[in-house]
Amino acid sequence: MLRESPVDERGEVSAVAALLRGSRDAIRAPSPEPLRVKELDEQLRQMRAATVCALNQMLDLKDLNTGVHSTRLAEWAMRVAEQLGVAEHDLRDIEVAAILHDIGKVGVPDSILNKPGKLTPEERAVIEKHSEYGWAILRLIPGFERASLLVLHHHERTDGKGYPARLKGEEIPLGARIVSVVDAFDAMVSNRSYRQGLPAEEAMRRLRADSGTQFDATIVERFVQLAVQELPEISQIVAPAGLAAPLSPEQT
Ligand SMILES: [Fe+2]
Repeated sequence: MLRESPVDERGEVSAVAALLRGSRDAIRAPSPEPLRVKELDEQLRQMRAATVCALNQMLDLKDLNTGVHSTRLAEWAMRVAEQLGVAEHDLRDIEVAAILHDIGKVGVPDSILNKPGKLTPEERAVIEKHSEYGWAILRLIPGFERASLLVLHHHERTDGKGYPARLKGEEIPLGARIVSVVDAFDAMVSNRSYRQGLPAEEAMRRLRADSGTQFDATIVERFVQLAVQELPEISQIVAPAGLAAPLSPEQT
């Protein structure tokens, strides 16, 4: 039978009181060994990495991503962020967001995602929901809450004409501004089934042309400096022949 009071008729301490005493003893006990804390940190890091890999696999299955694309994007985003002096724990959020920024496209019908022709305004509105879907998925994973906000805002524009919240300039989280620039560049230089990728120099020119309107000007300049240094490497992933048609928003 359950007792209603922590003290019984004989004045003996109840199980609750014993638990309280136990917790006080635990507080007085020496703190966990540094080695154990390190182990737990490592376990947490591995769990985060495994979660990102599993979700990335899912994107591959839906043909929304490729391992190379997401790894490249994350590397560029992290390097730009490092150059901007972003703190270590924020770098991890940017890495997750760079890899999984389009995860919400799992909620968009294939008939719209793979439509070869021009999208209707209604279809475009459905595609634009992907940043909110991505936020809704990632925010449920412990440790990915901040990354989910970067995903939510990765299609905002500096001039306030983006989506979903029409944030402007520095209202847009820094990580989301970085992902926006590197994702646009990667989309421009990559080959797709329906078009050939742009040469890197042309993609950089287009980034600069949209600097201050679509993209954060400081981030564009940092990224272009980085891309210029690595042109030979980037050129390997760029189709050398011909210019592609300009990208529509849903192609990025
Ligand atoms: Fe996107």
